[in-house]
Amino acid sequence: MDYQPLIVGLGGTTRAGSSSEKALALSLRAAEREGARVAMLAGPELEMPMYAPERPERSGAAQRLTALLRRCDGLIIASPSYHGTISGLLKNALDYTEDLSRDERVYFDGCAIGLIACGAGWQGAGHALTALRAIAHSLRGWPTPLGAVLNTSIPLFDETGACRDAAAAFQLECVGRQVVQFARMKAALERVSSLAEA
Ligand SMILES: Cc1cc2nc3c(=O)[nH]c(=O)nc-3n(C[C@H](O)[C@H](O)[C@H](O)COP(=O)(O)O)c2cc1C
Repeated sequence: MDYQPLIVGLGGTTRAGSSSEKALALSLRAAEREGARVAMLAGPELEMPMYAPERPERSGAAQRLTALLRRCDGLIIASPSYHGTISGLLKNALDYTEDLSRDERVYFDGCAIGLIACGAGWQGAGHALTALRAIAHSLRGWPTPLGAVLNTSIPLFDETGACRDAAAAFQLECVGRQVVQFARMKAALERVSSLAEA
Protein backbone atom coordinates (compact mmCIF):
# COMPACT_ATOMS: atom_id res chain seq x y z
CA MET A 1 0.00 0.00 0.00
CA ASP A 2 1.31 3.50 -0.90
CA TYR A 3 -0.23 5.31 2.04
CA GLN A 4 2.48 6.26 4.51
CA PRO A 5 0.86 7.62 7.67
CA LEU A 6 2.84 10.03 9.82
CA ILE A 7 3.34 8.57 13.28
CA VAL A 8 4.65 10.94 15.94
CA GLY A 9 6.38 9.67 19.09
CA LEU A 10 6.43 11.66 22.33
CA GLY A 11 8.23 10.53 25.42
CA GLY A 12 11.36 10.03 27.39
CA THR A 13 12.72 12.14 30.18
CA THR A 14 15.16 15.05 30.44
CA ARG A 15 17.90 12.38 30.53
CA ALA A 16 19.06 11.50 27.01
CA GLY A 17 18.93 7.75 26.45
CA SER A 18 16.35 7.07 29.17
CA SER A 19 14.61 3.70 28.98
CA SER A 20 11.30 5.30 27.93
CA GLU A 21 13.13 7.10 25.10
CA LYS A 22 14.77 3.85 23.95
CA ALA A 23 11.43 2.05 24.18
CA LEU A 24 9.77 4.78 22.12
CA ALA A 25 12.50 4.68 19.48
CA LEU A 26 12.13 0.90 19.15
CA SER A 27 8.38 1.18 18.72
CA LEU A 28 8.80 3.91 16.09
CA ARG A 29 11.30 1.75 14.18
CA ALA A 30 8.65 -0.98 14.03
CA ALA A 31 6.13 1.59 12.75
CA GLU A 32 8.64 2.64 10.10
CA ARG A 33 9.16 -0.99 9.01
CA GLU A 34 5.37 -1.24 8.72
CA GLY A 35 5.54 1.59 6.15
CA ALA A 36 4.97 4.73 8.22
CA ARG A 37 6.85 8.02 8.23
CA VAL A 38 7.91 8.75 11.79
CA ALA A 39 9.00 11.73 13.88
CA MET A 40 10.08 11.71 17.51
CA LEU A 41 10.09 14.46 20.11
CA ALA A 42 11.88 13.17 23.18
CA GLY A 43 13.47 14.42 26.37
CA PRO A 44 14.72 18.01 26.13
CA GLU A 45 12.48 18.65 23.10
CA LEU A 46 9.51 18.32 25.46
CA GLU A 47 10.83 20.91 27.91
CA MET A 48 8.55 23.94 27.65
CA PRO A 49 6.94 26.49 29.97
CA MET A 50 4.03 25.30 32.11
CA TYR A 51 0.96 25.27 29.86
CA ALA A 52 -1.26 28.25 30.67
CA PRO A 53 -4.44 28.57 28.58
CA GLU A 54 -4.75 32.30 29.35
CA ARG A 55 -1.27 33.06 27.93
CA PRO A 56 -1.35 32.95 24.13
CA GLU A 57 2.42 33.16 23.53
CA ARG A 58 4.10 29.82 22.73
CA SER A 59 7.77 28.86 22.95
CA GLY A 60 9.56 27.49 19.89
CA ALA A 61 9.42 23.98 21.39
CA ALA A 62 5.68 24.27 22.00
CA GLN A 63 5.09 25.49 18.43
CA ARG A 64 7.11 22.58 17.01
CA LEU A 65 5.13 20.15 19.16
CA THR A 66 1.66 21.36 18.19
CA ALA A 67 2.62 21.71 14.50
CA LEU A 68 3.72 18.07 14.42
CA LEU A 69 0.74 16.82 16.41
CA ARG A 70 -1.67 18.58 14.04
CA ARG A 71 -0.16 16.64 11.11
CA CYS A 72 0.07 13.20 12.71
CA ASP A 73 -2.05 10.24 11.63
CA GLY A 74 -1.17 8.31 14.79
CA LEU A 75 0.74 8.83 17.98
CA ILE A 76 2.96 6.81 20.31
CA ILE A 77 3.48 8.08 23.86
CA ALA A 78 6.08 6.68 26.26
CA SER A 79 6.29 7.72 29.89
CA PRO A 80 8.19 6.69 32.99
CA SER A 81 6.06 6.00 36.03
CA TYR A 82 6.59 8.87 38.47
CA HIS A 83 4.87 8.43 41.83
CA GLY A 84 2.07 6.34 40.45
CA THR A 85 1.31 8.27 37.25
CA ILE A 86 3.04 9.78 34.20
CA SER A 87 5.90 12.29 34.43
CA GLY A 88 5.21 16.00 34.81
CA LEU A 89 7.39 16.71 31.75
CA LEU A 90 5.15 14.62 29.52
CA LYS A 91 1.89 15.75 31.11
CA ASN A 92 2.80 19.39 30.56
CA ALA A 93 3.66 18.72 26.91
CA LEU A 94 0.36 16.88 26.47
CA ASP A 95 -1.52 19.82 27.99
CA TYR A 96 -0.46 21.84 24.92
CA THR A 97 -2.81 19.63 22.88
CA GLU A 98 -5.51 21.96 24.22
CA ASP A 99 -4.37 24.24 21.39
CA LEU A 100 -5.83 21.58 19.04
CA SER A 101 -9.24 21.64 20.70
CA ARG A 102 -10.78 23.98 18.12
CA ASP A 103 -9.15 22.45 15.07
CA GLU A 104 -11.20 20.82 12.32
CA ARG A 105 -9.82 17.53 13.66
CA VAL A 106 -10.32 17.98 17.37
CA TYR A 107 -7.27 16.65 19.31
CA PHE A 108 -6.58 13.15 17.92
CA ASP A 109 -10.08 12.29 16.78
CA GLY A 110 -9.90 9.08 14.76
CA CYS A 111 -6.20 8.45 15.48
CA ALA A 112 -4.71 5.41 17.16
CA ILE A 113 -2.50 6.13 20.15
CA GLY A 114 0.09 3.54 21.16
CA LEU A 115 1.09 3.68 24.82
CA ILE A 116 4.28 2.64 26.60
CA ALA A 117 4.85 2.80 30.35
CA CYS A 118 8.18 2.16 32.10
CA GLY A 119 8.47 1.69 35.85
CA ALA A 120 10.88 0.38 38.43
CA GLY A 121 8.23 -2.27 39.10
CA TRP A 122 5.11 -3.72 37.49
CA GLN A 123 2.67 -1.86 39.73
CA GLY A 124 4.04 1.62 38.94
CA ALA A 125 4.25 0.90 35.23
CA GLY A 126 0.66 -0.43 35.30
CA HIS A 127 -0.59 2.76 36.95
CA ALA A 128 1.21 4.89 34.34
CA LEU A 129 -0.35 2.86 31.52
CA THR A 130 -3.82 3.35 33.01
CA ALA A 131 -3.18 7.11 33.24
CA LEU A 132 -1.98 7.18 29.62
CA ARG A 133 -5.12 5.34 28.47
CA ALA A 134 -7.35 7.85 30.29
CA ILE A 135 -5.46 10.70 28.61
CA ALA A 136 -5.76 9.04 25.17
CA HIS A 137 -9.54 8.74 25.66
CA SER A 138 -9.78 12.39 26.80
CA LEU A 139 -8.02 13.42 23.62
CA ARG A 140 -10.50 11.42 21.50
CA GLY A 141 -7.83 8.91 20.49
CA TRP A 142 -8.10 5.15 20.17
CA PRO A 143 -5.62 3.45 22.51
CA THR A 144 -4.18 0.42 20.71
CA PRO A 145 -5.32 -2.98 22.01
CA LEU A 146 -1.86 -3.69 23.41
CA GLY A 147 -0.22 -1.22 25.78
CA ALA A 148 3.46 -1.90 26.53
CA VAL A 149 4.37 -2.23 30.20
CA LEU A 150 8.11 -2.42 30.94
CA ASN A 151 9.77 -3.17 34.26
CA THR A 152 13.09 -1.38 34.03
CA SER A 153 14.45 -2.85 37.27
CA ILE A 154 15.52 -5.61 34.88
CA PRO A 155 18.13 -4.21 32.42
CA LEU A 156 16.21 -4.11 29.14
CA PHE A 157 18.32 -2.08 26.72
CA ASP A 158 22.00 -1.95 25.86
CA GLU A 159 23.83 1.33 25.22
CA THR A 160 22.96 1.20 21.50
CA GLY A 161 19.23 1.04 22.31
CA ALA A 162 18.85 -2.62 21.35
CA CYS A 163 16.39 -4.47 23.56
CA ARG A 164 17.79 -7.55 25.32
CA ASP A 165 14.38 -8.76 26.49
CA ALA A 166 12.34 -10.59 23.86
CA ALA A 167 8.99 -10.05 25.61
CA ALA A 168 9.56 -6.31 25.99
CA ALA A 169 10.72 -5.99 22.37
CA PHE A 170 7.64 -7.88 21.17
CA GLN A 171 5.31 -5.53 23.05
CA LEU A 172 7.03 -2.41 21.72
CA GLU A 173 7.05 -3.64 18.13
CA CYS A 174 3.43 -4.70 18.38
CA VAL A 175 2.39 -1.23 19.61
CA GLY A 176 4.25 0.41 16.70
CA ARG A 177 2.62 -1.92 14.16
CA GLN A 178 -0.88 -1.53 15.60
CA VAL A 179 -0.78 2.28 15.33
CA VAL A 180 0.12 2.03 11.62
CA GLN A 181 -2.47 -0.70 10.96
CA PHE A 182 -5.21 1.46 12.49
CA ALA A 183 -4.18 4.50 10.41
CA ARG A 184 -4.35 2.29 7.29
CA MET A 185 -7.80 0.95 8.21
CA LYS A 186 -9.06 4.50 8.69
CA ALA A 187 -7.61 5.64 5.36
CA ALA A 188 -9.21 2.62 3.60
CA LEU A 189 -12.57 3.36 5.22
CA GLU A 190 -12.39 6.99 4.10
CA ARG A 191 -11.62 5.86 0.53
CA VAL A 192 -14.62 3.50 0.51
CA SER A 193 -16.87 6.23 1.93
CA SER A 194 -15.78 8.76 -0.68
CA LEU A 195 -16.33 6.20 -3.49
CA ALA A 196 -19.81 5.45 -2.14
CA GLU A 197 -20.63 9.18 -2.12
CA ALA A 198 -19.31 9.74 -5.70
C1 LIG B 1 10.64 11.10 40.47
C2 LIG B 1 10.55 9.63 40.22
C3 LIG B 1 9.43 8.94 40.66
C4 LIG B 1 9.32 7.57 40.42
N1 LIG B 1 8.20 6.92 40.84
C5 LIG B 1 8.04 5.62 40.53
C6 LIG B 1 6.87 4.93 40.91
O1 LIG B 1 5.97 5.47 41.55
N2 LIG B 1 6.74 3.63 40.55
C7 LIG B 1 7.71 2.98 39.85
O2 LIG B 1 7.54 1.80 39.52
N3 LIG B 1 8.85 3.61 39.48
C8 LIG B 1 9.03 4.91 39.82
N4 LIG B 1 10.16 5.56 39.44
C9 LIG B 1 11.17 4.84 38.66
C10 LIG B 1 10.98 5.08 37.17
O3 LIG B 1 9.65 4.98 36.74
C11 LIG B 1 11.78 4.04 36.40
O4 LIG B 1 13.12 4.07 36.79
C12 LIG B 1 11.66 4.27 34.94
O5 LIG B 1 12.17 3.17 34.27
C13 LIG B 1 12.46 5.49 34.55
O6 LIG B 1 12.44 5.52 33.18
P1 LIG B 1 13.51 6.32 32.34
O7 LIG B 1 14.70 5.40 32.18
O8 LIG B 1 12.78 6.58 31.09
O9 LIG B 1 13.89 7.54 33.13
C14 LIG B 1 10.33 6.89 39.72
C15 LIG B 1 11.47 7.59 39.28
C16 LIG B 1 11.58 8.95 39.55
C17 LIG B 1 12.81 9.69 39.07
